[in-house]
Amino acid sequence: MASSQGLRILFITSEVYPLCKTGGLGDVSAALPAALRALQTDVRLLLPGYPQVLAGVKYKSKVTEFNELPQFPPTTLLSGRLSLSKTEHIPVFVIDCPGLYRREGGPYMDTLGRDWPDNALRFGLLSKIGAILASDASPVAWRPHIAHCNDWQSGLTPAYLHFHPGKKAATVMTIHNLAFQGVFSPGSVIQLGLPPDSFDVNGVEYYGNLSFLKAGLYYADHITTVSPSYAEEIQIEPLGFGLQGLLATRRDHLTGIINGIATSEWDPAIDPHLVKNYTSKKLSDKAVNKSALQQQMGLTVDADIPLFGVVSRLNHQKGTDLLIQVAPQLVKIPAQLIVLGSNHTDLEHQLSTLAQTYPDAIAVRIGFNEALSHLIEAGADCFLMPSRFEPCGLNQMYSQRYGTPPVVHATGGLLDTVVDCTPTTLAEGSASGFLFYPMTADNLLNTIKRAAQAYHDKKNWQRLQRNGMAKDFSWHASAIAYQKIYEALLA
Ligand code: ADP
Ligand code: GLC
Repeated sequence: MASSQGLRILFITSEVYPLCKTGGLGDVSAALPAALRALQTDVRLLLPGYPQVLAGVKYKSKVTEFNELPQFPPTTLLSGRLSLSKTEHIPVFVIDCPGLYRREGGPYMDTLGRDWPDNALRFGLLSKIGAILASDASPVAWRPHIAHCNDWQSGLTPAYLHFHPGKKAATVMTIHNLAFQGVFSPGSVIQLGLPPDSFDVNGVEYYGNLSFLKAGLYYADHITTVSPSYAEEIQIEPLGFGLQGLLATRRDHLTGIINGIATSEWDPAIDPHLVKNYTSKKLSDKAVNKSALQQQMGLTVDADIPLFGVVSRLNHQKGTDLLIQVAPQLVKIPAQLIVLGSNHTDLEHQLSTLAQTYPDAIAVRIGFNEALSHLIEAGADCFLMPSRFEPCGLNQMYSQRYGTPPVVHATGGLLDTVVDCTPTTLAEGSASGFLFYPMTADNLLNTIKRAAQAYHDKKNWQRLQRNGMAKDFSWHASAIAYQKIYEALLA
């Protein structure tokens, strides 16, 4: 067995902060490998060569060309370095396949929000190269003990490895979101070079199609997901999204490990995106960010009106529809609302209409804006996350760290990271936000009202803020939990 110090992990992912991020997977793909490297585990990333990745990875050199993969266009493997800070670097392998990755648009969709039509090939290649590098067919001297796959985009790696006759790494499949499953037509099985026999209920087949995620869940040696509560929720309907049966049968190989956050990136004391930095010792400095935010967003500048912030993908998962439903009543409390989000749906349009109707109280910014997301975390009084389901969620942790207690639906990682504010939890010093259940518009609105009322009780509000700010959301404990899984697989 390799000791932790000698462990080599290939971390296969379709996005990584700061080069390419559409959500929490990007954050985790930078912060977890960095935390594991701090524990002396040799983690290296494998990434598709999107233009941003080719531009952002430093000290690139060519490792090899893959000329014997008839299913895929010409491909070159590069190696280089991803810099997270002056002192933190992660070695990366980049798959340079111009025919599949060098194009304008997002990692999964074009500029109009349509899935790329060749996504099966694009992420089939990511999975395939992952499997090659993790086997004795690899042209690279560095050989991982574990291939750590993330979401459907690398779900075929365990399947390819299963059918590889030679020596190979063990596999871990992490579910960040079961709602995205990478489902493609049955013809993709042959197109991607999987054996026809694999198209079976005991294999990659999923209701008559090929599912990348199902393949990963079926063939991986171990499955993890990003919170203990979500690990339970996905074993039954409705949150199993059709995979509950498989997950329940694999429950002995399924572990929920809560995500951490990049504590140096998300620290109000040094965050460069804030108007004024602050700590729990001087919360009056936080108020400077609130007035700046109100001003910048065109809202009435008033310290006494509770300001609720949202930074989110706008969709059914995130409960954006319920938020829109309760917004007119939120304004009447009185309270204010700032939403930063994006998605190509008419929710954007509905939110913009709300902002036009209540220009002094509701502001909406559509688009992806890293700097503004930090300022909202700091400037809002309360953060709203009414997600129908949430595998982990990062913003509720950022907001606690920023003294901005979150209002959340009691599900998945939200349930595992936020403690409801009650007289008892306040007295104990554990209260850090507001939870509601079940997911209805009335419950959301009543909890927003409860938070708004609590905001006016300054002494207790500051206790609530300080409780959240004092919590340890670092990756350290979770990185150790991943290490234990890697070690157990090699034992
Ligand atoms: P998910 O991955 O489901 O979208 P998470 O809470 O895990 O949810 O992570 C979302 C990440 O993406 C957070 O870092 C959040 O700040 C960021 N984010 C989401 N939407 C935006 C946006 N419009 N602008 C900037 N950052 C955003
Ligand atoms: C997914 C989930 C989110 C989680 C993130 C990182 O996008 O929706 O809850 O925090 O992945 O694991």
